[in-house]
Amino acid sequence: MAHINASIDIDQRLYAQDIRASQAHASMLAAVGLISDTDLAAISGGLDQIEQEIKSGTFTFSTALEDIHMNVESRLKDVIGEPAGRLHTARSRNDQVATDFKLWVRDTIDAQAHMLAALIQTLLDRAKTETQTILPGFTHLQPAQPISLAYHLHAYVAMLSRDLDRLGDVRARLNRCPLGSAALAGTPYPIDRDQTAAALGFDQPTENALDSVSDRDFALEYLGAASICAMHLSRLSEEIVIWTGPQFGFAKLSDAFSTGSSIMPQKRNPDAAELVRAQVGRIAGSFQSLLMVMKGLPLAYSKDMQEDKAVTFAAADTLSLGLQAMAGMMADIDWNRDAMAAACGHGHLTATDLADWLVRTLAMPFRDAHHVSGRLVALADTRGVQVGALSLEDLQGVEPRITQDVFAVLSLQASMASRTSAGGTAPVRVAEALVVSEAALGTLLDRFGGL
Ligand code: ARG
Repeated sequence: MAHINASIDIDQRLYAQDIRASQAHASMLAAVGLISDTDLAAISGGLDQIEQEIKSGTFTFSTALEDIHMNVESRLKDVIGEPAGRLHTARSRNDQVATDFKLWVRDTIDAQAHMLAALIQTLLDRAKTETQTILPGFTHLQPAQPISLAYHLHAYVAMLSRDLDRLGDVRARLNRCPLGSAALAGTPYPIDRDQTAAALGFDQPTENALDSVSDRDFALEYLGAASICAMHLSRLSEEIVIWTGPQFGFAKLSDAFSTGSSIMPQKRNPDAAELVRAQVGRIAGSFQSLLMVMKGLPLAYSKDMQEDKAVTFAAADTLSLGLQAMAGMMADIDWNRDAMAAACGHGHLTATDLADWLVRTLAMPFRDAHHVSGRLVALADTRGVQVGALSLEDLQGVEPRITQDVFAVLSLQASMASRTSAGGTAPVRVAEALVVSEAALGTLLDRFGGL
């Protein structure tokens, strides 16, 4: 029973939040006259001492005392004696654990928001110098149209900025305080829940005690947002893996972020990228796991809910590592701009520009222009050149109305620069987008607590 019941090995990570919440609770009890100021001083001093003991590693955690709440309370009894027993007036472990865990998730969201912002800033900094660097944009991993490296990196800025915004949404909805809900039905004591909520940085108390002790939506929402963010990191990791392979050769990871092989001396393996690519499984698995824990539970608290912490802690640790590893990789990855340019020598990247020229200059319906352009691509393949390098004679052999003017749209630079629609890859648009995203980053970060 002790082994299955105890959670102290896991939930000792809540010690700082548990003590913070107990301090707020004790101050409130004194303010409304439920404990004396002398008792408050003893409790508060004792809790400070216990926090120091845990921080410095001198505290002995006991499995027999089951969880962090009872470990702290029991030690408080040792340290200050009788007043310790007054701390648990008008609360229960049910609202206590809900409060502690919420505080922990909120602290984690704040810390990860700053990690995410650091990664976004790194991507922005690396993108700024690359608005003219051309590489193939792909669909189906087949060369499609020329785009800039800055544009490709900015796509990840956009994704990760949504992740940051999503974490902000989770935090805003989470920020109501369950403390004072007691076991499930409230308490007959004249407590002041507004005071404890404010002291702990919550916007207001939760509205229904029965729900408050049964709710783990905040952890699920966090894990959902973390899963989506981890999925984005996984996609960027896969780009790194592909780009650093010799077949692409678009990029080279620094020595700090590559590993060698124990047998093949020529190898530079992108291990960190591969691990980040894989981590989404553990994080999304944690979401799934907690969702199944909560499914079908009747109101109010059931011990099933103790399973919430191990999976949430594991997911959060994994995401923190992934965010930091990705920021490290992106900070000093080397670009091989020549390899990117060389890759644009395959796949007829300006075939769409040719079709667009036929539409605009000859008023051809797009479907017909698509067909003509397709025939010219086939001809270019037989000549062993890119469609933009066909002679005027060859072009006119398929469509006699084509003139010399067409060559102005068939270069990679012209193709990229022509895509000036909002959100397009033209260097002028991308430069603007980088400025907008950088300005938005500050506003997004305002939704989180400082570190
Ligand atoms: N260790 C428990 C948990 O994490 C604390 C709440 C216990 N409440 C109870 N009624 N047994 O869920």
